[in-house]
Amino acid sequence: MNSYFVQTFGCQMNEYDSERIAATLEERGLFPADGYKTADIVILNTCSVRESPQNKVSSYIGMLGKLHSKSGKPSIIGVMGCVAQQVGAQLLRKYPQVDFALGTDNLPMLDYALTRALSGERTSSLDVDATSFNVAPFKRRINVSVSISIMKGCNNFCSYCIVPYTRGREISRNVGEILAEAKALVHNGAKEITLLGQNVNSYGAGSSSSVDFPALLGQVAQIEGVVRLRFVTSHPKDFSEKLVHTIAGHDNICPLVHLPLQSGSDSVLKRMNRGYTWNQYLDKVQTALEFFPKLRFASDFIVGFPSETDEDFEATLAAVEQMKYESIFAFKYSSRPGTKANELDDNVPASVKSERLARLLKLQDSIASERYSALLGVCAKVLVEGVSKQDVSTMSGRTIYGRIVNFETTRAVNVGEEVEVVLTEVKKNTLFGRLK
Ligand code: 5AD
Ligand code: SF4
Repeated sequence: MNSYFVQTFGCQMNEYDSERIAATLEERGLFPADGYKTADIVILNTCSVRESPQNKVSSYIGMLGKLHSKSGKPSIIGVMGCVAQQVGAQLLRKYPQVDFALGTDNLPMLDYALTRALSGERTSSLDVDATSFNVAPFKRRINVSVSISIMKGCNNFCSYCIVPYTRGREISRNVGEILAEAKALVHNGAKEITLLGQNVNSYGAGSSSSVDFPALLGQVAQIEGVVRLRFVTSHPKDFSEKLVHTIAGHDNICPLVHLPLQSGSDSVLKRMNRGYTWNQYLDKVQTALEFFPKLRFASDFIVGFPSETDEDFEATLAAVEQMKYESIFAFKYSSRPGTKANELDDNVPASVKSERLARLLKLQDSIASERYSALLGVCAKVLVEGVSKQDVSTMSGRTIYGRIVNFETTRAVNVGEEVEVVLTEVKKNTLFGRLK
């Protein structure tokens, strides 16, 4: 029993947790397998934000079960993350091949669960820790770009969202712990840090610490060696001028804010319980841009929320047209058991949801093309992440706005270096250029 594989579904928070899971397993002397087929132990770190990733978990468990009965591998299957938190006990009952289920706060129980599983005992730990969020130091994978989780949970209860139920109430990590993790990461070679939380703007709220999110961001920005600093996600109702001033005040904070609007229609926003209107959102954005014109925005959208009319959807298109986002993520509404919106009639037909999603993405595509064309001839700072996936003679990196740039170089360029690249071409949402 010596190799493991972690399959991650869902958000960056889960990716961070998967790194913690891998570190725990490696501390036991296990090593990473190439894939689930060759691993002795497979852990699924799951997501339940929409129905489709949740369904994937069930089919994955089924597939692992068949593999186990044929070849004996994987010997141990563990389910963790949001689906485990919600239905871990049912999973254990339904799938004899599942050895343990651990909830979103029970990662520290992994070692114990594994020990029990090795002696043939099936366990679950699904208790929520409503008082603290501590992350014991763990062996980080050092890449140019790394993430740090700064808080857990969410208090917003958007009517469609499962997160407040799977991740519990908002609890912020202690500032000292976050700064220590950031310092260790840059000391070991990381260049870009992304601070993670469901709603980073409310960092520190409800704790005894006087450090709020802008203050934390400023402190991380000042750590020597932090070349770039990013953060996700910002809730529009808590997006403050203080935060904009902090971004503007530090050259290394990337001026890109992920500020999910979700819908451009006030009546939909109200039923979503988002706590702002489109005009309030736009007001904040315009005030921010007046102060700091370099700022750009990205967003998430849900189409086909219960009773969303054609006019509601047109309002979303108009908002996207006006905002000219750097990028958007858009999803068809998916009713989640236990949420408030689940009590509403999911009455927008699937075909209408699909059509709206396609129209929204097409609009954003044309905005992105415009944005890309405007970049040709521009000299952009690129943080080098590696050799291009398509062509080994080309290096690849990202601009401050997160756009991928491939460029040829005549001199040796190191991964992790920030270089200036003149942008000369755009193909399929990738920019090409040459070193200045
Ligand atoms: N259905 C569809 N999309 C959802 N999201 C969250 N919950 C749902 C749901 N029930 C989307 C939101 C959020 C992103 C992470 O996922 O747009 O910002
Ligand atoms: Fe879900 Fe809303 Fe919290 Fe985001 S802010 S995690 S959408 S409840």
